[in-house]
Formats: sequence, C-alpha cells, structure tokens
Amino acid sequence: MASHLPSATSGKPILDALSGIRQSKPPIWLMRQAGRYLPEYRAMRAQSRSFMEFCFSPKMASEATLQPIKRFGFDAAILFSDILVIPEAMGQPVSFEQGEGPRLAPINDSQDFLRLRDEIDLEVLEPVFETVELVKSQLPAEVAFIGFCGAPWTVASYMIAGKGTPDQAPARLFAYRYPDLFSRLIDRLVRASVNYLERQVRAGVEVVQIFDSWAGVLPDREFEKWCLQPVLSITRQLKARCPGVRIIVFSRGAKTRLVGFLEEASVDALGLDTSDSVSWSARNIQVKKTVQGNLDPLVLLAGGEALVVEVSRILDGFSAGPHIFNLGHGILPATPIEHVELLLKTVRDGR
Ligand code: CP3
Repeated sequence: MASHLPSATSGKPILDALSGIRQSKPPIWLMRQAGRYLPEYRAMRAQSRSFMEFCFSPKMASEATLQPIKRFGFDAAILFSDILVIPEAMGQPVSFEQGEGPRLAPINDSQDFLRLRDEIDLEVLEPVFETVELVKSQLPAEVAFIGFCGAPWTVASYMIAGKGTPDQAPARLFAYRYPDLFSRLIDRLVRASVNYLERQVRAGVEVVQIFDSWAGVLPDREFEKWCLQPVLSITRQLKARCPGVRIIVFSRGAKTRLVGFLEEASVDALGLDTSDSVSWSARNIQVKKTVQGNLDPLVLLAGGEALVVEVSRILDGFSAGPHIFNLGHGILPATPIEHVELLLKTVRDGR
C-alpha cells in the first residue's frame, strides 16, 4: 500500500488508522454518538430553550461531546455542534422545531442570495471554538478529537429549501436554473468551511470530518461540480494551512464515485455509508485509503444476533487494511444503550 506510510504509533488508535496502519481490532466511534439516544443528553437538552442555543453554549456542548466518551469509552470524541451553524454565521438564522428538523428562511432567487453575508462572521462561531478548548482540556490522552463541517452541497441544500426534504429537489432545481448564482454560493461555502475548520484545528481538534450527507441525490456531472471539486478544494486548502490535520470525507451515496477521492493526498480516509458493499470497498477503496464504516444504524437498533453477525461480517471484510469502525449513517434516537454496549464488546473482544 504505497500511499500508507506506517509510522510509530501515536498512542491514539484513530490517528494510527488514519496514518494507514492496520490494527487487529479497529478503533471505533459512531456518527451522532452524542445525542438523543443518551438519557444524560436528553436531561441536559431539556434545560436549554433551543437546539441552537445548546450548540452555542460551550458548557453544555462540551459536556454533550464528552458524555459518550464517559459512558462508552469510544476512541474518538466528535465536537457537539451542527452543520447549520454556518448558515447562521452567514446571516441566515436557523431554528429547530420540536420533532420537525431545521427551519431557515429559504433562498428562492438572487435577492434572497444577496441578503447573505459574503464571509461568515467568525464572532458568531466563537462559542464553538471555546467548546473545542473546553473538551480538549478534559479528553483522555488516547481519545482522538474530531471536528466537522457540512460539505458545501449539503449545507447549500438546506439553505435553499429552508428545511430538510426527501431528495433535496429545491436545491437541485435552483442549481439547474441559476448555475452561476449556485456556483457563487458553493464558493462562499468552500471559503467559510476552510476558515471554520482551520479555527477548530487551532482550538484543538486533530481530525475533521466533512459530511456530504446528500451527495447521493446528484447525477454524475453535478456530483463532480458541486460535491467532488468543492470538497477537494476544502481538503487541499485546509491541509496547506494545517499540515498535521487528518481529514475524513463522508460522501454519502457517492458509491463508485468515491474513487474520485482516491488519488488525493489531502484526504486521509473515506466514510462508507450503509449501502456501500464491504467487499467492493475493500478491493477498490481500502487499498488506497483508510475506510470508515459502515454498520446499518437499523441493525444497531435491532440488536441481538443480527447485530453480532453483521459486525463480524464488516470486521472480516475490512481486516486486511486500515479501518475505523462506525455506522453507515447517524445513530437512531431510539437505539437502546445495551445495543451500543454489545457493539463495543463485539468489536473489541469478538475476534
Ligand atoms: O455526531 C455527533 O454526535 C455530533 C453532533 C452532530 C449533530 N449534527 C447534532 C444534532 C453532528 C455531527 C451533526 C451533523 C449534521 N447535522 C448533519 C450531517 C450528518 C447526517 O446525519 O447526515 C446534518 C444533515 C445535520 C442537520 C440536522 N441537524 C438535521 C437535519 C437535524 C434534524 C434531524 C435530527 O436528526 O434531529 C439536526 C438536529 C440535530 N443535530 C440533533 C443533534 C443531536 C437533534 C436535535 C435535538 O437534540 O434537539
């Protein structure tokens, strides 16, 4: 594996995996590991008026980041925040209605677009960097710290629709109707993301994950223009500014188009989603990059024998190279705590 340079172990299993080192038991963390399936999160969340207020409270957000580490001892902590703090910092306020997901004033035309700030207001994001510092000072030495942002396409899709949709049709339509305007929005989000991630790294995160949760809805040409190129622009600029940072790209639904990231030195690992084939990914992705994933969140919800069998299949399928165990998408709020315990036991003792 020419692109993987084995180095002395760092003392943090996730960082070793990101350096291309194969481990007999892969390190593990879970997307959305902080959140509603944890009773201690629900109790704390009940004390804040809104989700955004919670995200911008360093005391609560740092505690939420640490809760899954204290309870389960995952190999990484992920910053507690949301991808939609970026629109907020661009002057497009975000709110979350109980049980309904995000709400923003939609972008329907050039007038709405022109109301946005050209640059993000980093002042608005200051509490996030403070959260990073607070977590950093309390994190056990072997636990890696992951920051994140949404990829430009995924963030833009919420900015345009003003809410979650099943297929991001409003943003796709907007991009076909107004390609120049859409391109300007994507460029702005690239710049914002690089500045935002750089500040997260300077405050203490060692790894960043870029969530392109809606990459899968685009045809090839649009994927290339709105997902692949903008994400690579972020990873290249961030690596130039912060050479030590490790970068995981989660381009959900990209399928075979993931190969577009393979020759890119600025990308350290690729996140696989639930529908990605383990054997195809082992042969075509893992030979060049560390892979992360890809247990179906519904198997974790189901638990029992189905969970043990599926975890073993993924462990075996990725046993020949560097692997970070994770879900193929975020943990579901109804997931029982005992199932997460069984998952950890199976990954750590089960081989
Ligand atoms: O992973 C973690 O534990 C860290 C925190 C985190 C959250 N959101 C907290 C959150 C991360 C990494 C995210 C990323 C995120 N946010 C994505 C990309 C990953 C993915 O799941 O595809 C997206 C698309 C969003 C936007 C978003 N935030 C939506 C659509 C929603 C509503 C749906 C839902 O899951 O509730 C959120 C709300 C949100 N973000 C919650 C949490 C814990 C629940 C709100 C609450 O607790 O009141």
